[in-house]
Amino acid sequence: MSNNRVSRRQFLGYTLTGVGGFMAAGMLMPMVRFAVDPVLQEAGAGDFIMTDQRADEITEEPVRVDFSFEQVDAWYTSEVTNSAWVYRDGDTLVALSPVCKHLGCTVNWAGDEEHPNQFFCPCHAGRYEKNGQNVAGTPPLGPLDEYAVEVRDGIVAIGPVRDNTLV
Ligand code: FES
Repeated sequence: MSNNRVSRRQFLGYTLTGVGGFMAAGMLMPMVRFAVDPVLQEAGAGDFIMTDQRADEITEEPVRVDFSFEQVDAWYTSEVTNSAWVYRDGDTLVALSPVCKHLGCTVNWAGDEEHPNQFFCPCHAGRYEKNGQNVAGTPPLGPLDEYAVEVRDGIVAIGPVRDNTLV
């Protein structure tokens, strides 16, 4: 007969400790998972977003191209719609941000009858040349930002925004 017999008190202690530990793990695991979830997600920065715009329809005249993407802010994911002014410059496509560098209004191509070959911001009459260069003497103090742009399967894909490389 062994001398290592487990008393009723010890058995109850082991059982309660085991069950308590199991229940605590069951409660803590979802909380830990929730807390570190954004860290585990793959970063989407640098991805190109497909649009509905066929590349062969793009001419030297800027056209507005809309695109949507999911924006992740920690645990909150939302659908964001954005746009770019896209035109052809020789063999390459150019995509400019429509966000005015004065106070952030949306610029339009040929929005001012007196300056039909420029981007125009209706908020404070800001103007930009076709390559995004801000026109001296108007409120904007910098050029329009530029999007990276590619053609994938004949469709325009918009990439990350960057400083204007054309001016
Ligand atoms: S916001 Fe565009 S000119 Fe002021």
